[in-house]
Amino acid sequence: MSKKLYIKTYGCQMNVYDSQRMVDLLSPLGYEMTETPNEADMAILNTCHIREKAEQKVFSDLGRLRIVKDERAESGKDMMIAVGGCVAQAEGAEIIRQAPYVSMVFGPQAYHKLPEMIAKTTRERDIKLGLKKNIGVVNTDFPVESKFDFLPQPTTSTISSFVSVQEGCDNFCTFCVVPYTRGAEYSRPVADILNDTRRLVSLGTKEVTLLGQNVNAFHGISPNSNDVEWGLGRLIYELAEIEGLERIRYTTSHPMDMDEELIKAHGEVPQLMPYLHLPIQSGSNRVLEAMNRRHTTAQYLDVIEKLRKARPDIAMSSDFIVGFPGETKEDHNETLDLVRAVNYAQAYSFKYSIRPGTPAGAMDLQVPEPVKVERLAELQNLLNEQQLAFNQSKVGTKQQILVDREGKYDGQLRGKTPFMQSVHFDGNERLQGEMIEVLITGALPNSVSGIVDTIG
Ligand code: SAH
Ligand code: SF4
Ligand code: F3S
Repeated sequence: MSKKLYIKTYGCQMNVYDSQRMVDLLSPLGYEMTETPNEADMAILNTCHIREKAEQKVFSDLGRLRIVKDERAESGKDMMIAVGGCVAQAEGAEIIRQAPYVSMVFGPQAYHKLPEMIAKTTRERDIKLGLKKNIGVVNTDFPVESKFDFLPQPTTSTISSFVSVQEGCDNFCTFCVVPYTRGAEYSRPVADILNDTRRLVSLGTKEVTLLGQNVNAFHGISPNSNDVEWGLGRLIYELAEIEGLERIRYTTSHPMDMDEELIKAHGEVPQLMPYLHLPIQSGSNRVLEAMNRRHTTAQYLDVIEKLRKARPDIAMSSDFIVGFPGETKEDHNETLDLVRAVNYAQAYSFKYSIRPGTPAGAMDLQVPEPVKVERLAELQNLLNEQQLAFNQSKVGTKQQILVDREGKYDGQLRGKTPFMQSVHFDGNERLQGEMIEVLITGALPNSVSGIVDTIG
């Protein structure tokens, strides 16, 4: 009999990728996906620890799942609750102490052991059945073996797919939990990445996004020699040879790892899309140093200048943190100046959130909440203006759109421009998964609208 699996994913694209791999791992065990927790024999929360809010959400969602588990128990059905991802890595057994109805806790580098963990939990539950006591399984190892060697080949694909190429981070920015939750930097061998991508393309993928916490630090073993490593640029040139792969993107990059070859690829590889998410976090050199970002604003602007020389129409995106400990009004104004200097097409911005165990969490001069709120609003106003202006600049142009989903309304479709703008337009359902030309006719802050040139 088939069993139902519910997965809720929080956080970054790497977690989205990991959740998909969990589905691939569990489908041979007879698990089918469900969107409804009430139906689930197994519920996994794939969690994020990046900011306090993300973590709090997990515990409130767990409370809700507990109610569902109890309701199912009344009608004689069980539900196994598992917590994976970065909160699991950070909190470990503490989660089971706080929420004893959780059966399994596993970190981002241990999920390939899911089938084993399920077998173990089930066995122990059967032994303890009379006692109604749950013994949770906790696996937050950073195993020496790579999980990638144990993950099954993808059997289904989407028009746009993620391919993990690099994981973990050795940068230790003082605000960030990622080096602790994802572990040390690791690059997958080039041959494995090429295999995965070819397979996805043969299953229908037209666009890949190469993923890594610090993706441009990629240094994978060459397919030809164990002694040679390839950087991300070299990998992109090779991926561009795969027939049927129309678009290549990558995220997230560190400014200090944008090397010459990668910048050159932006000018020479037509499949590499003219959009780059390149977080700077702050426009103040003093704050950048306290964040341990290892670069100045001048170096960041220099990288952008080189990118724009290679690919003049490249659309830039970034992440910003306001209210980092010790940030003054002056530092904040420097961030606004940097935003004006770059002119972003898109960006994400956050209030600094204290993370336990990180150096910045223990720093003096934490910025009061109302100041953070004010600075965030000011920054977001400016970024929204720039984003709207960028979207407006494309009105009247024709853009190649990869149609990747249905729109909100009947008869509406959605897709992405090369610049990562979300486009909505009316069109025949058959256009889903196609690359089509759309005339951009309107601009909103977060999307553009258009009309299809061809008769769908
Ligand atoms: N590897 C990526 C980012 C990973 S986290 C990089 O180097 O840019 C995604 C974003 O979350 C970061 O860029 C940062 O802007 C934000 N972030 C990380 N830690 C944070 C914290 N403690 N408080 C607020 N925002 C944070
Ligand atoms: Fe975190 Fe910095 Fe690593 Fe990005 S580069 S994941 S912000 S430590
Ligand atoms: Fe969150 Fe972990 Fe990603 S902390 S942002 S899910 S790497």
